[in-house]
Amino acid sequence: MCGIVGYIGKKPAFPILLSGLKRLEYRGYDSFGFFVFDEEKPFLFKKVGKISQFEQNFPNPSGEIGIAHTRWATTGEVTEANTHPHLDCHKEIFLVHNGIIENYQDLKAKLIQEGHKFTSECDTEVLCHLIEKYFEGNLEEGVRKALREVKGAYGIAVISKKDPEKIVVARLSSPLLLGIGNDELLVASDPSAVITRTRQVINLDDNEIAVLKPDNFFILKEKPLETIEWKIEEAEKKGYPHFMLKEIMEQPESLENTLKGRLLISEGMAKLGGLEVIRDKLRKIKRLNIIACGTARHAALVGEYMLEEYANIPTEVDSGSEFRYRKPVLDKDAAFVFISQSGETADTLAALKDIKQRGLITLGIVNVIGSSVARETDAGVYIRSGPEIAVASTKATTSQIATLALLTLFLGRQKEMALVMGQRIARELEKTPKLVKKILEQAPQIKKLAEKYKTFNNFMYIGRKYDYPTAREGAHKIKEVAYVHAEGCRGGELKHCELALINEDFPTVAICPSNSVYEKMISNIEEIKVRNGLVIAVATEGNEDIKKLADDVIYIPKTLEMLTPILALIPLQLFAYYSGALRGCNVDKPRNLAKSVTVE
Ligand code: F6R
Repeated sequence: MCGIVGYIGKKPAFPILLSGLKRLEYRGYDSFGFFVFDEEKPFLFKKVGKISQFEQNFPNPSGEIGIAHTRWATTGEVTEANTHPHLDCHKEIFLVHNGIIENYQDLKAKLIQEGHKFTSECDTEVLCHLIEKYFEGNLEEGVRKALREVKGAYGIAVISKKDPEKIVVARLSSPLLLGIGNDELLVASDPSAVITRTRQVINLDDNEIAVLKPDNFFILKEKPLETIEWKIEEAEKKGYPHFMLKEIMEQPESLENTLKGRLLISEGMAKLGGLEVIRDKLRKIKRLNIIACGTARHAALVGEYMLEEYANIPTEVDSGSEFRYRKPVLDKDAAFVFISQSGETADTLAALKDIKQRGLITLGIVNVIGSSVARETDAGVYIRSGPEIAVASTKATTSQIATLALLTLFLGRQKEMALVMGQRIARELEKTPKLVKKILEQAPQIKKLAEKYKTFNNFMYIGRKYDYPTAREGAHKIKEVAYVHAEGCRGGELKHCELALINEDFPTVAICPSNSVYEKMISNIEEIKVRNGLVIAVATEGNEDIKKLADDVIYIPKTLEMLTPILALIPLQLFAYYSGALRGCNVDKPRNLAKSVTVE
């Protein structure tokens, strides 16, 4: 996600901002910018790329007040114009922002009507124009009035040339803290940006506005000082030993970002701005083909079940590497969906280029804004799960599945899906971040389970229907990060082959929530038990009977069958992570694998 640093004090601001920004680099970013206020020579600097590419040639501005930002694009492509700080019409207000302004399109349309001139596609720019609109000489007042109109999430830091000598900061659902130093104040989105200058911080609460001046600060209410206990290197991973664990734990937040502003509960519909341009064409499609690789392909398989069952659209999933070489019979009324976290996977891109040449509709479901898949497709949906640093995909996967559920609503409700069904899916989808949070509380138990099973070198993962792709992904994760052989198998296929592998040395993870195929899964578990196989069951809370059959049980809350993969994947990711960590594997960078597979 994006990062914010601000400084006000008695020292030149630029080097302090630069070092703070560098401490935020671990979060991932695609562009960065600074504003340093100096009455004589205000300094604004924005670049696309990494700080290290430009560092040799950085100027040395004077000025003891400044703000800086690393951007990870979510609204608007990766361009200098979209990079923060953003400005108002008169270039007097400078603002950096983390979060999403959900109603920015409506606000922007209104502000344009009122005569404001926009220079970027970024949602953040509306904040500058709103503050400009309400500014009457006092910046915090202007900010306060502007924020009353805003829906969404924000952490912001603002400087105005017309009310200088202060930084005004505010937050709602996006972290922001004040660093209280000696004769200096800092603001940052993450403690790692201030830790080298001070350990005394105040974490702002939602809806709070603070004003930082060279020698004092005030917030709307009194707040206690806290001390940061982290070591600097821990701060980069928020105290987690690995990025993979951090990213697993971030899923309540990443899912919330995926869904934010997109669920229209009473209409039982999804609002997907990125598909509006193509809405009419999509209404007429008769078939969907989804193309993806690796973990993204497992998310696609969940999508196949959803889209066929609820949107009534025949759907076929293929991997990029196969699609590009086989000779598929293509339907001219089909749309092609390309799912990719990085948006740069060579095999997925090759298939996309092929389909484009044939003039068929292409859609992207992508995490990285402005990546090749995002640019090359006709339309698409960003999953907004934030940068994923660990090679093993975790939070992007659950966001991809949530996005496919949104797509199911979007397409299904334009076809035959009933309003009540749409409402039900939307309501259940909205609950998923909270349910995931609850499952994550079981991390210590899952760690114990990984300890218990750490000597086994083979695992079977089984599931049926929606839980089959989950089984595939569970196996994929443990192979990838713990170098353990695992098979992801359809429960019903066991007796046709894989049952031959089962004995006391080959445990099975059975995904068996209480759903339409539960009884069938129980039969599969029984087949395994009579062959002395150990079973770890992933079952629905309240199912006590399963304890009589399985050796170990991990419980997940009840949800709609189509959304179960989002929940069931969480313990499987944790199990893989702990298995890898306990075996001493480099879980964040597994051997022979790369985060972005840009070669065939
Ligand atoms: C698994 C994993 C890979 C990727 C695959 C596709 O954890 O990370 O299997 O899922 O290489 O990558 P994207 O989604 O970037 O196209």
